[in-house]
Amino acid sequence: MKKLIIINGPNLNLLGTRETEIYGSLSFTDFLEEIKRKYNNISIDYYQSNIEGELIDKLQEVGFTYDGIILNAAAYTHTSVGLGDAVSAIETPVIEVHISNTFSREEFRHKSFISPNAKGIIIGFGLQSYQLAVESFI
Ligand code: DQA
Repeated sequence: MKKLIIINGPNLNLLGTRETEIYGSLSFTDFLEEIKRKYNNISIDYYQSNIEGELIDKLQEVGFTYDGIILNAAAYTHTSVGLGDAVSAIETPVIEVHISNTFSREEFRHKSFISPNAKGIIIGFGLQSYQLAVESFI
């Protein structure tokens, strides 16, 4: 059985209530249940943290044994050299995802420290971005 993990960065624990006009009104827990049900022949773990170092620790922990990582580093995407380095240091392929189209938003969201080391990038499809990333590992 393939082993994937979705890793979400800061403030994504508030999905469903946070800026719903941008991020939608479905909670991530409900969404996750849905995709786990849909892809019941693969294992999909989930981790969320608001803390940069914890996200780096998780990438290092799973990055040599899992088959795929789906990473939405949220605001740290645009600021974190450390997360970018972690993605480059591990062996498991990482798909960078974003719910919103970061390129149609403020200029500071156009920069990503994750993209240069990601296997692929899926941006702007709402929560479906995660599902497309799961599909890419099948
Ligand atoms: C986000 C986009 C980021 O710019 C923002 O800081 C987020 C969410 C997205 O999924 O659209 O927190 O990663």
